[in-house]
Amino acid sequence: LPLLAAIAALSYCIGSIPFGLLLTQVGGAGDIRQIGSGNIGATNVLRTGRRGLAAATLLLDGAKGAFAVVCAFVLSPFHTGQAEAVAALFAVVGHCFPIWLKFRGGKGVATGLGAALALSPLAGIACCAIWLGVAKLTKLSSAGALAAFVALPLLLTALGGGDPRAPVAMAGLLIALLVIGRHHENIRRLLAGTEPRIGRSRP
Ligand code: G3P
Repeated sequence: LPLLAAIAALSYCIGSIPFGLLLTQVGGAGDIRQIGSGNIGATNVLRTGRRGLAAATLLLDGAKGAFAVVCAFVLSPFHTGQAEAVAALFAVVGHCFPIWLKFRGGKGVATGLGAALALSPLAGIACCAIWLGVAKLTKLSSAGALAAFVALPLLLTALGGGDPRAPVAMAGLLIALLVIGRHHENIRRLLAGTEPRIGRSRP
């Protein structure tokens, strides 16, 4: 148990690095929290018009999710999936509620996808494909994210042997609930038909 607590704390710290905020500040694109939706994620960084910064935010936010899972794999002696599941969940929690930003963080899409790729490359690739496919078709980043995270727990359960109580499947479910919950404003705008298309200015 102390090991799992340490892995949770480490993963939270890794997940809480706000790359979107750091990159836009260093790149001279202003305070991302004052732009568009105010979110610190790649979708909102794209609203600054800085495609390179948006791509870097997406990659680094994804990489921190994967990195947390890899750290857990290396640190835990038993590979039951428990440590990796805890790491994935807490990396996303760290991204969504970073202590450094008074717990006002992002929505967990890139970090959740990165963690999913490390937990189960097959499920991760499928979720990325759903996310990209739906986002491309609808031009709505949030719609892609919501579709991908509805699918995530189902895919992790199916690929993990069908047991929904397996640690990795449980992590998938909790991450999905968190990411979908963090999209409550997007969901309201999607239903009202006012969600801005990718790259457009403000919601
Ligand atoms: O999934 C993140 C994206 O779906 C929403 O970002 O900035 O439009 O709220 P944003």
